[in-house]
Amino acid sequence: MSGFTPEWLALREPADVRARDPGLLAALSAHLAGRNAIDVVDLGCGTGSNIRTTAPALGPVQSWTLVDYDPVLLEAARAALLAWADEASENGEAIALKKEGRAIAVRFRQTDLMQDLEGAIGGRPDLVTASALFDLCSTDFIRRTARTIASEGAAFYTVLTYDGVQTWSPGHPADAEMTAAFNAHQGTDKGFGSAAGPNAPEALALAFRGQGYLVQEAPSPWHIAASEQTLIDMLADGCAAAVAEIGGVPPDIIAHWLGVRRTASVVGHTDTLALPRI
Ligand SMILES: C[S@@+](CC[C@H](N)C(=O)[O-])C[C@H]1O[C@@H](n2cnc3c(N)ncnc32)[C@H](O)[C@@H]1O
Repeated sequence: MSGFTPEWLALREPADVRARDPGLLAALSAHLAGRNAIDVVDLGCGTGSNIRTTAPALGPVQSWTLVDYDPVLLEAARAALLAWADEASENGEAIALKKEGRAIAVRFRQTDLMQDLEGAIGGRPDLVTASALFDLCSTDFIRRTARTIASEGAAFYTVLTYDGVQTWSPGHPADAEMTAAFNAHQGTDKGFGSAAGPNAPEALALAFRGQGYLVQEAPSPWHIAASEQTLIDMLADGCAAAVAEIGGVPPDIIAHWLGVRRTASVVGHTDTLALPRI
């Protein structure tokens, strides 16, 4: 339904985990330290990569709501989390996990965030988080997210927002042209109005500063080498398909560009932590 398959999300998860900025996660952990229990909402959760990486840095009792509009991904998230936990029990729709001494309750919510962001975030959570979501969203939706989170008084932590940088090794004369066209495609509507695409990190920082939040940012680029050749190949295929769709680069150049086997790639991202001033 969403166009993101469990297979693609599993392929990118190791690169995501390596790329995240540890300093921002430590700052989030320090901000939430001392609370007896933490309520967290994960927007656009996919198969649960974000909870698997963030929860081990947070307190001993956590309650997560995983939100996505794709039922296939929510079901895959549930299965992946049951397998990830040290101990797990099921309680209807919800699951209760033990992981490295933490008690983590998880419930799943199928919601189109464009339709009901406010319902998904409501309930005074301590933290609203997301991974690889906001470059899909419009600047208006990002402002709406910041307003809604501020009205709940929650902290905000989002990782792996694409920032427009792509490099390929070995290089190709059309790399810059291809990246520019890919970035233009990133600005098309992904279900939230015209997407902020590579401008999303800046839009997030501005929106949360506008709500009086303290905003910290850090780069979180993917560094992908030949040991992850399938990921590199899928990135190149995805880039070529997006460029062909948006037009502007001649098909023979796209075909020649795609014909060069890349053995390494860097894809720029930004992590953002926005904390309410208490
Ligand atoms: C790039 S994937 C990231 C998934 C996951 N957070 C991760 O890091 O692996 C974007 C996710 O946002 C979800 N998504 C996109 N548009 C959405 C919408 N309008 N409402 C809810 N979820 C949406 C997709 O289904 C997908 O799971």
